[in-house]
Amino acid sequence: MKNTIFRIRAVAVLVAVAGVTLSNVTPASAAVPLKNITHRYVGSAVAANHLANEADYRSVLTREFDNVTPENEMKWGVVEATRSHYDWSGADAIVDYARRTGKSVRGHTLVWHSQLPGWVNDLEAGELRSAVKQHIATEMGRYKGKIRAWDVVNEMFNDDGTRRSSVFQQKLGDRYVADAFRWARAADPSAKLYINDYNTEGLNAKSDALYDLVRKLKKQGVPIDGVGFQAHLATQYGFPAGYQANLARFAALGVDVAITEADVRILMPADAAKLAVQANYFKQLWDGCHAVARCVEFTTWGFTDRHSWVPDTFPSEGAACLFDTNLRAKPAYTRINP
Ligand code: XIL
Repeated sequence: MKNTIFRIRAVAVLVAVAGVTLSNVTPASAAVPLKNITHRYVGSAVAANHLANEADYRSVLTREFDNVTPENEMKWGVVEATRSHYDWSGADAIVDYARRTGKSVRGHTLVWHSQLPGWVNDLEAGELRSAVKQHIATEMGRYKGKIRAWDVVNEMFNDDGTRRSSVFQQKLGDRYVADAFRWARAADPSAKLYINDYNTEGLNAKSDALYDLVRKLKKQGVPIDGVGFQAHLATQYGFPAGYQANLARFAALGVDVAITEADVRILMPADAAKLAVQANYFKQLWDGCHAVARCVEFTTWGFTDRHSWVPDTFPSEGAACLFDTNLRAKPAYTRINP
């Protein structure tokens, strides 16, 4: 789908490039937006409140990206904090924005141990199973046909490759994963269904476990279409070993792969050397995705250092995005899109 759009845009880009060579180019952004230099969807996590309140945020997002992922607005704890009382305001606003601007949406996320409403934790097994089924049917049903891809199951593994002992694992057992994918397919047959996780970018115990699970699910005929690699990296750690080979082995199972939440945090304060390492990491993430035919999407977890989950989550780390707080392109952006 993106391919057709890309060809039409390529013509527009030629015209645009011809135009800018004649006028002054502002250093704030490249002549050609990120979304126009690739056949992959290029996305960002977005927050509905910034979209509504910050015109400059909205305009860079609209210009550079063609996929949006709601950062929090579709999570269970947000849409149904109280049982049977729904708040779709943020999710609706993002889906509406995407439709107005012709962008695809990655739905995020349906079955996740975190940002879960308290009432879900209190259910006994039978009730929990119907609640998960109903949650998937209700949320996917509301946006049926409007979401390109859904993160159905998120972060189900521990780093050593064992299953996280979430409330789903504890009360429903191993089968909750296959059940969730089957319910998701029934709720919106047009959406691509993904399993998503972090620290699975390289070849390691966690990605081995994920690989094994996806292989088994495919063999059992469970409707899974893709694997999402979050790619929350940090410059003080090495780049994930075997990244491209890892993406390729998943693709060879017959699923799409996607970079779903890329950011590269820096131990503050940032300096030129750290920003150069960051640029290098982003470039490797980008190139590895482009080297694998079934890598269909490259999405970052926010696009500006003005709004990023990193400083709130990792004290003393920050500056993890492609644009700085003033929405100027950082070295990482220019490295990908010179
Ligand atoms: C994060 C959001 O960015 C924060 O605003 C929120 O407080 C916590 O969750 N993996 C995921 C995302 O799948 O949903 C998380 O998003 C980041 C890690």
